[in-house]
Amino acid sequence: LASTEVDVSAIAEGQAITIKWRGRPVFVRHRTAKEIEDAKAVPMSELVDTDARNPNLKGESTEATDANRAAAGKEPWLIMIGTCTHLGCVPIGLSGDFGGWFCPCHGSHYDTAGRIRKGPAPENLHIPPYEFTNDTTIRIG
Ligand code: FES
Repeated sequence: LASTEVDVSAIAEGQAITIKWRGRPVFVRHRTAKEIEDAKAVPMSELVDTDARNPNLKGESTEATDANRAAAGKEPWLIMIGTCTHLGCVPIGLSGDFGGWFCPCHGSHYDTAGRIRKGPAPENLHIPPYEFTNDTTIRIG
């Protein structure tokens, strides 16, 4: 299926957009320094799901560190499939107990790296295959 190109130049720090890819929502979030710092400060032992769920990783580690969740070499950017890993609702951004996303269907809270931290969802929000084709364009798929 076709890939989708997204121009991210208008997404200011602290903002996010949702686009459609293969009929599914994909979140593109431009994180603030504080959001990145918060995500980095979380020890692996506090995570429900320690897998990065990122098919783009090239290194050996698939741990759900912030670096393994964010775009390679572009730490502020987080690109994720917007489907709650519990039963598939679309979580709401910039909300929840950890400042990331909150799924109102059954109360799952995701952090600013999209990792599940509280509630019934078993896995971190999944990351689609994507790459930055230049500084301001992402190709998803
Ligand atoms: Fe998100 Fe159940 S579908 S918490």
